[in-house]
Amino acid sequence: MESLIVPSTDSREKIYSALLPQIEGLISGEDDLVANLANITAVLKESFHFLWVGFYWVKKDELVLGPFQGPIACTRIAFDRGVCGHAYSTKKTTIVPNVDEFSGHIACSSNSKSEIVVPVIDKKGHVLGVLDVDSDKLNDFTEVDLQGLESIVKILLKNIDNDLKRKS
Ligand code: SME
Repeated sequence: MESLIVPSTDSREKIYSALLPQIEGLISGEDDLVANLANITAVLKESFHFLWVGFYWVKKDELVLGPFQGPIACTRIAFDRGVCGHAYSTKKTTIVPNVDEFSGHIACSSNSKSEIVVPVIDKKGHVLGVLDVDSDKLNDFTEVDLQGLESIVKILLKNIDNDLKRKS
């Protein structure tokens, strides 16, 4: 793929729809996890200009910063801390319309106003990591983002699963 095609529309729904096949094309056939996570964050940053987009991945007993786009961020998050820890523990996508009202929110950037975190859960129900997106606008995430980001995570999981099958 030479370059990303992002439709010029304000409709996030249309943008997510255009991105899904492109992400699939971008990561299918590539078995390097870091490369794939990195490209997914780049696609989301370039398409929506979010303040921060990145993955935290489970390493031993905590979430550790993975590929991301945006300002520098905290490196390690305990499973029971922050919005990321909440999504990890509940195994559910968490939308926080106003981070100041979420008790335990970890402020990596003072410009972050709202946030969505999608857990990456394998077939056995184990959380492998989380996809975290931060916005500098209050109330910036809706069901459209939940659906769009969960669809992207599904594509990622299918790819991880196919790679495991290929190697076994
Ligand atoms: N705000 C997150 C921490 C990660 S940063 O936003 C990049 C949290 O509360 O888990």
